[in-house]
Amino acid sequence: MKPVISVVGSINMDLVVSAYKRPSAGETILGKDFQTVPGGKGANQAVALSRLGAEVNMIGRVGEDELGSNLMRFLEKENIVLNSVESVTDVSSGVAVITLAEQDNSIIVVQGANEYVTPGYVQKFEEQIAKSDVVLAQLEIPIESVEETARLCHKHNTTFILDPAPAQELSPLLLDYADYMTPNQSELTHLSAIGEMTLEQYPNKLIVTGGKDGIAYFDGSSIKRIPSLPVTVLDTTGAGDTFNGAFGYAISKKKDVHAACKFANAAAALSVKKMGAQGGMPTIDEVRDFLCINGKERVAEWYCKS
Ligand code: RIB
Repeated sequence: MKPVISVVGSINMDLVVSAYKRPSAGETILGKDFQTVPGGKGANQAVALSRLGAEVNMIGRVGEDELGSNLMRFLEKENIVLNSVESVTDVSSGVAVITLAEQDNSIIVVQGANEYVTPGYVQKFEEQIAKSDVVLAQLEIPIESVEETARLCHKHNTTFILDPAPAQELSPLLLDYADYMTPNQSELTHLSAIGEMTLEQYPNKLIVTGGKDGIAYFDGSSIKRIPSLPVTVLDTTGAGDTFNGAFGYAISKKKDVHAACKFANAAAALSVKKMGAQGGMPTIDEVRDFLCINGKERVAEWYCKS
């Protein structure tokens, strides 16, 4: 049976420009390419989950504009259940302006309709949250709504995975009610600047995704590291979202943190081989092909060589 997973989060249209470098303040440069592709950390995680085989319910909002209808169409094509996505009048859909340069991305998000995912809006979907195996949230909707999601998950014993991105201060309630938190290295640095946050404080709960530096978490006795996998990188946008989706999928299948991280690490590696946040997100078969030969793991092979 498919695991039932809800994502409470943002839905954006990504306006992606690639250039040979990032312009400095006051500078104009000529770019290489421009694309409009679906994104938003919430929607991206929903797509990652759905491609892997989960039944996914998106809880979010779009504007009543052309971007909004296109975003809904994209999500529908990915088999995501959209009963809990309502449109907002007179507000634009969420938009992210993304610059790809020097092998990495920088992103400005204008929340638009995502700001209307209020705590009251989340409460309307309590039943949905209660019957989910796992719920995922990020921080591109109001943080009070993420707290409400955490509260509802806690009330109904639903596993709650928090991707604290973009980084901002986390309340004691969020720190307590999140079953897993998955910042990347720069988000962890930001969170630690606000209040000390170390892997040792959150055994088997705080998982740091480090891009090419791989994954790290504390298992209660030592820090475990899972190295990144060698792939040719085209676009890193959405790699963290792929990690979160795949991690949530593995957790819904009752895998332990180590197994879930290994699986998610492979899915995230595959995602950077194609353009766009959702472009390279793999199916379950693609992850299997990447990780296994004749049903046996080939991960060991790569590590043995180094
Ligand atoms: O994590 C990548 C996503 O961040 C992009 O799709 C963009 O929409 C921003 O939300």
